[in-house]
Amino acid sequence: MSESNRASSDPVMPMPPDPCRPCAWPQRVSTALCLALLAACGGHGAGTPATGGDAATGKRLVTQYQCGACHAIPEVPGAGGDAGPPLAHFGRLSYIANGIPNQPAQLTAWLIDPPAMKPGTAMPALGLTEQEARHMAAFLYTLK
Ligand code: HEC
Repeated sequence: MSESNRASSDPVMPMPPDPCRPCAWPQRVSTALCLALLAACGGHGAGTPATGGDAATGKRLVTQYQCGACHAIPEVPGAGGDAGPPLAHFGRLSYIANGIPNQPAQLTAWLIDPPAMKPGTAMPALGLTEQEARHMAAFLYTLK
């Protein structure tokens, strides 16, 4: 469980893309996903990231989808997998998967389809709906 490549040495990004302009991201995003992400940006602003989701529901979904098979996740019984990074302090991270700005729209998109955001990643798409992903994002942002 090494923390060495995290937080302290986030990779340098050339100008993070605006999370509320997903259709302009350099990554290719499907039109449907792009529009869904735009809708998610209605409430963005100060304070906690606006995900459009509910953290308690997200925690239940994270348990149900067995994210813990690959991730160690606080508050989720039995979540002790180590194929993916521990999610203990995910809410404090600047980047998702070492390069994607950690913003609600990007996190939702990541959870729905990780390979679309980072080709070759070992995290598979698990068939989440957009709303399920938003609930999970709300939960993940409580992990600090
Ligand atoms: C088959 C194993 C596997 C499953 C199942 C899985 N993940 Fe992952 N996850 C990974 C791997 C591997 C990474 C690292 C991806 C990378 O950096 O390319 C990752 C990365 C992540 C990240 C970014 C973490 C960071 O520190 O940057 C989040 C958030 C995440 N997963 C959430 C979830 C959630 C929520 C679920 C359940 C819906 C889930 N994962 C299911 C393997 C998995």
